[in-house]
Formats: sequence, C-alpha cells, structure tokens
Amino acid sequence: MERRIAADPGRFRVLTGDRPTGDLHLGHLLGSLANRVRLQDAGVPITVVIADYQVITDRDHVGPVRERVLGLLADYLAAGMDPERSVIFPHSAVPALHQLMLPLLSLVTDSELRRNPTVKAELADSGRPLSGLLLTYPVHQAADILSMAGTVVPVGRDQLPHLELTRVLARRFNERYGPVFAEPEPLLSAVPVLLGTDGRKMAKSRGNSIALSATADETAAALRRARTDSLRTIDYDPVGRPEVSSLLDLAAALGGTDPVALAAEIGDGGAAELKRRATEAVNTALAPLRARRRELVADPGYLQGVLVDGIARASATAGETLAAVRRAMGTEYLPH
Ligand code: TRP
Repeated sequence: MERRIAADPGRFRVLTGDRPTGDLHLGHLLGSLANRVRLQDAGVPITVVIADYQVITDRDHVGPVRERVLGLLADYLAAGMDPERSVIFPHSAVPALHQLMLPLLSLVTDSELRRNPTVKAELADSGRPLSGLLLTYPVHQAADILSMAGTVVPVGRDQLPHLELTRVLARRFNERYGPVFAEPEPLLSAVPVLLGTDGRKMAKSRGNSIALSATADETAAALRRARTDSLRTIDYDPVGRPEVSSLLDLAAALGGTDPVALAAEIGDGGAAELKRRATEAVNTALAPLRARRRELVADPGYLQGVLVDGIARASATAGETLAAVRRAMGTEYLPH
C-alpha cells in the first residue's frame, strides 16, 4: 500500500477522522497525526472528519464540543496539517453526508450490526443500554468515508471492522444500483502502541495521557508519576517490561534515537533517569508545536475561517456523491 501511494500520491484520497472528546495526546502524535502529515507532505489529498455526532454514541452529552472542535483543529494545524492542501470539517455541518446513511442502512441487517466487535466493546465500556446510534454508527462512519470518496483509511486495529463494513456496503450498493463507490482500503500504521502513565493504552478518556497542549511542567509531572517496574537497570523489552519500554519508545521517537541504544545509555540510571530523558525529549520536540498551538488558540477567528473553508469543500464533495447516489437510485425528480 505504502509503495503504491509513493508511486502516485495524487491517485489516492485519504479519509480519516477523530471524535472531538478531548485534546489529542502523544499517542495520537506518534500514531495517526504524524502519519497524516507525512502523507499530506508526500502529495496525497487528505480529508479529516471531526466526528461530532460520534461523541454521543456512548454518552448523553456532547460536552464542550465547540471548544473541543477548535482545540482539535489547533492540534492538527500545530502538528503540520496544512488547511490549503487538506480538508478538515465537523461532519454535523455537512447535511449531504448524513443523507447517505439512509440507503446505506437499507443494505445491512440487524445481526450484522450486532456482530461488530468494536460496537460490542464500546457497549460494554459505556455501561448503558444499546442506543440506535451506537448500533448503527459504523454505517454512519461508512457514510463519512463514502460520501467523501475516501479510498485509503489510516486506522488502528480497533477500527478494522468498520472499514470492512464500509467495503461491504460499497459493494452491495454498486451491485444493486450500479457502480458509484470505490471500496476503500485500510492503511495500518506500524507505530508501537504508547502506554499511558497508568500502564494501560494511552487514551483521552482514561486520564492517563499527555496532551499535546500540556505545558512543559505538566508533562514533567505526568511522566514522573508514570508507572514503571522495580528493576534498576533499564533495558528494552516490550513484552517483559512494557511500561519501561513504552517510555523508551517515546523518548527515542521524539529524541530521534533508537530505544535499544537509549536503554544502554541509561543503564543503571534507573527509572528516574529514564523519565528525565523522556521528559526532555518530549518537551524539546514539542516546544515549536506547543508555541504554534498557543498562537492558534488565541485566534479563534482564524480557526473558524479554516472550518468554514473545510465545510464548503466537504459539502461540495458530499453533494456530488449524493447526486451520483440519487441518479443511480432513480430518486432525482427535477431537471437541474
Ligand atoms: N471512529 C473513529 C474513532 O473513534 C473516528 C472516525 C469517525 C473515523 N469517522 C471516521 C475514522 C472515518 C476513520 C474514518 O477513532
């Protein structure tokens, strides 16, 4: 996949998204965000959906969604996403996208939806009854992808069932009504999973993450608290010593070195020295991003302008897709 993209970047359309449930953290930076910026800079058109309707799949309230959408946008731009080349928009602002969900819903059965392992896991975590939106949000996500004509979707493993469903829906639509959709392909990144300060996977919702927007002092305090183990000598052993190895991954990725070499350097310096190195690597590498982010957040008018432009471009694409869908289905009644 990477090789095909490098050979002809303009032929692909990368589509990806985030829920606006909080600021992005170091795990996002090393995983999805760095990957998006790299693809963008290689000449691939990128579209990012800020999935505001997905916030209410597992909770009652959208929260301070306006601040979060602007904060997310500031994270993207500070990390190097370029609003001239890339399209960034909140999906609630693009009505045509949601209309696509109706024909897509007709192509899937109740039992197919209930089998989705990601929905099952989110249902268990939510501790709530299954809402109609949680059950059908993978179809809504397919509408995100297909309405924006995405052909490549960079995803984590947990999102693979949604991508498979998207491919099934595209195929079924095409078989029933004629060829409208390309089947999008997943792009799995090889980045190691970053652990949070409690030793579990870093996640916005777990309070174990270090936000891109954190100050240098907040970063130092969070890393000082990070879980390690009781062995004095530091070595790189992702299976046997996951917490120590994750800190080495972090320090090495941001410090431009290799985790094995870094472990050897720290040696008997122990966890305190490892945390000091990780803090220094994060704070040094992120200083320019954080400065830029502060400027962006101080200028909400600029951020809103970027959204206005993203919404206009996304609406044009979603409108074209919807027109093709209605043509294929024969639900166009008036001449244009
Ligand atoms: N469900 C994704 C997540 O929780 C976010 C998302 C929404 C998305 N729409 C998308 C991802 C379209 C890829 C493509 O991370």
